[in-house]
Amino acid sequence: MKINIDRIKKDIEYVSNISATKNFGCTRFSYSKEDKEAREYLLQEFMKIGATVQVDGVGNIRARISGASKDKPIILVGSHIDTVMNGGAFDGLLGTVCALEILRVMKENELVFERGIEAIIFAEEEGSNFGATMLGSKCITGKYHKDDLISLKNDSGKTAYQVIKNFGFDPDSMKSMLLNLNEIYAMLELHIEQGQILDDSKNEIGIVNGIYGMKNVRVTLNGVGNHAGATPMFCRKDPMVVAGKIICEVENIVNKIHNETLVATVGKIFSIPNASNVISSQVVMYIDIRDINDETIDLTLNKVKKYIKKVANNRNILFEIEVVSSSKPVILSKEINDLFESIAKEKNIKYLNMYSGAVHDCAQLTGISEVGLIFVPSIKGRSHVPEENTTYEDIEIGGNLLLEAVVQLAKRK
Ligand code: HGY
Ligand code: MN
Ligand code: MN
Repeated sequence: MKINIDRIKKDIEYVSNISATKNFGCTRFSYSKEDKEAREYLLQEFMKIGATVQVDGVGNIRARISGASKDKPIILVGSHIDTVMNGGAFDGLLGTVCALEILRVMKENELVFERGIEAIIFAEEEGSNFGATMLGSKCITGKYHKDDLISLKNDSGKTAYQVIKNFGFDPDSMKSMLLNLNEIYAMLELHIEQGQILDDSKNEIGIVNGIYGMKNVRVTLNGVGNHAGATPMFCRKDPMVVAGKIICEVENIVNKIHNETLVATVGKIFSIPNASNVISSQVVMYIDIRDINDETIDLTLNKVKKYIKKVANNRNILFEIEVVSSSKPVILSKEINDLFESIAKEKNIKYLNMYSGAVHDCAQLTGISEVGLIFVPSIKGRSHVPEENTTYEDIEIGGNLLLEAVVQLAKRK
């Protein structure tokens, strides 16, 4: 029994074309018109194979082929379909399409296992709207509640609650859709690596032992806006200068702590009014700090906070520091990783055990299920960019390994 790589290719090409920036990568934010179009296509595909489909209060999609016994915990397979701005075609979508393909193969082979097999598509994994990654999986596992959706806001100040409601979902009903403790036997996700380890080492599969934790920290710097030409240097309160110093110091702090897993960057920054002949009145920037060790993330953040205080006070710049979202590092299931390894050995697949610097929805389910994550190589390690790419040969290897793992887990008593 094999996956049909042509169907996967067709799905990827169709959905990745649903983008707000067609000529520059994939931009498909959750709760956008592109998201609506992609959802409609995938829901149709699930209906075609007779899966039972549910969409929860924040837009997580669950499509199940039931098992012979209704009360056995099910196997979840899935990922996400939302993207970053100008992202790639495969991030999230690949794992989602592989889950759909596994249900198709089951249908084609009239496979009914003891336990149900369910494809899941988590909403708002990227955090592109509100700066909080894995929002859908945090909601369905009870980590996020209505007040979190009300405090999270997009760049135009709209709350996540409002945006989700306006899109047509019912976030108030989330409580009734929570995954509960003994509902899930195993959750599996297939994802592109988004780094270059597999590509460089010529391995075909990554077996992920742990997923980094992360903190997304918003820093607001308030200075005094003024004329860029007529204001003498000695009487400026320019928040852009402080922002520049902070961005460099984030890198210095990480390099001084110097461990091979700690990473941090400032990828998003606003200057108000963002005019070349105006001294900025306010700068808002976001610091993304990650590591496999939570204490190291906190150590780094505390050092960054201390520096911000020093450099802002020095220049009479008012500042605010707020952790917009965070997630803990998780170690994934040894039982499932052993299963992945045994299948890889049996099929002569070259594999590598590794960590994931990218976060993934499956990380949110480690408290209620055995969780496994496999990677397929990203060419030149590029991701979150239009150049993101993976060969269909590698996808076929990963998809068939995932299928075999689902079948073996489904048959367990
Ligand atoms: O940011 C991440 O790691 C993921 O791509 N959302
Ligand atoms: Mn992803
Ligand atoms: Mn991503």
